[in-house]
Amino acid sequence: MILLTGGTGYIGSHIAVELLEAGYDVILLDNLCNSQRSVVTRIEQITQRSVHFHEGDICDYKGLSAFFARYDIDAVIHCAGLKAVGESISKPLEYYDNNVSGTLCLLKAMRQAGVMQLVFSSSATVYGEEAAIPYIEHMPRGRTTSPYGTSKAMIEKLLEDASASDSRWAISILRYFNPVGAHPSGFIGEAPQGIPNNLMPYISQVAAGQRAELAIFGDDYPTPDGTCVRDYLHVVDLAKGHLKALQYLSTGVDHFNLGTGQGVSVREMVATFERATGVTVPYRFAPRRSGDLPAFWASAEKARKELGWQAEKSVHDMVVDTWRWQQWANRDPER
Ligand code: NAD
Ligand code: WQD
Repeated sequence: MILLTGGTGYIGSHIAVELLEAGYDVILLDNLCNSQRSVVTRIEQITQRSVHFHEGDICDYKGLSAFFARYDIDAVIHCAGLKAVGESISKPLEYYDNNVSGTLCLLKAMRQAGVMQLVFSSSATVYGEEAAIPYIEHMPRGRTTSPYGTSKAMIEKLLEDASASDSRWAISILRYFNPVGAHPSGFIGEAPQGIPNNLMPYISQVAAGQRAELAIFGDDYPTPDGTCVRDYLHVVDLAKGHLKALQYLSTGVDHFNLGTGQGVSVREMVATFERATGVTVPYRFAPRRSGDLPAFWASAEKARKELGWQAEKSVHDMVVDTWRWQQWANRDPER
């Protein structure tokens, strides 16, 4: 059985669907601090399989030990964490505690139970401010711009040290670029609490009339149209990458970028959204957002060659699936 921490979250729920559809038995563990229990039912509706859910916290060592004693876990996919970059700057201790101490706690409980296979949700942010593009896995981690990013870099380092100390560990560190989109069923997707921090949910809320206009942060970057460029990838592609990483796990620690290898600007994203949905997205240019880098994207070669994974869905798919989810979610306050 696979333990999926953060399993009711945005990315975890999509991984759960892919695992279940591939025939794995899965148990989701989440403390529901940023997701809803109703996601479990929606995963069941999509997959037509029953889903085990355990409400629990990765910082609770005793609870985790009891959990591992009770269930026969083969491997862990670890997505649980706090992820709001801006919030991490105002609450660094909470972020280090939850993300870093929580991961330590999980690792100790895993080791005690003899469960040594781990796939970890890291982020392209670990490449730091000064890395050349495209980002390649062999590049050193750089200077991160937020406690959130630093927490991911710290976890990567502690996973590497754990692996060096005990050859039983088999660890895959997945560095996500910019996951967007939703499951094509419209049943699961990203449900930000309050004002969205990220571009795609903001665009879709403007399109849905929930917000007046999008503020595009900066139009004077050294990019083709002056707006920032990112490597957006469909969350279903991202989820499929976890299956490949799980199947590829072997002792030691390995790092993989999960991105498309293509950069898309903010203006291009807005234009694609408008074209695909037929809905106008009013926007204005606003000052740059502190901490934003002008442009970055992945080298997707290593994942393609070693995992046999590459992103298949287009930006059009990302937008259409986001919009379907947005409309579905608008009708369901319980999302
Ligand atoms: P999310 O907030 O939707 O999901 C994270 C889940 O973890 C939530 O359901 C939350 O309730 C749970 N959680 C948080 N702390 C917990 C704890 N102490 N114990 C148990 N559960 C806990 O976020 P997401 O977008 O699905 O991100 C999943 C992972 O991927 C995170 O680790 C995030 O840092 C990483 N990541 C996300 C992105 C992105 O853009 N979404 C990019 C790179 C990396
Ligand atoms: C994308 C672009 C904004 C909102 C973040 C984290 C990163 C990773 C993914 C977790 C930028 C612009 C945004 C808006 C805008 N998360 N934008 N108006 O910042 O690339 O990455 O999410 O690991 O660590 O930093 O993604 O979606 O916030 O922004 O103009 O209202 O859209 O300036 O250029 P980002 P994003």
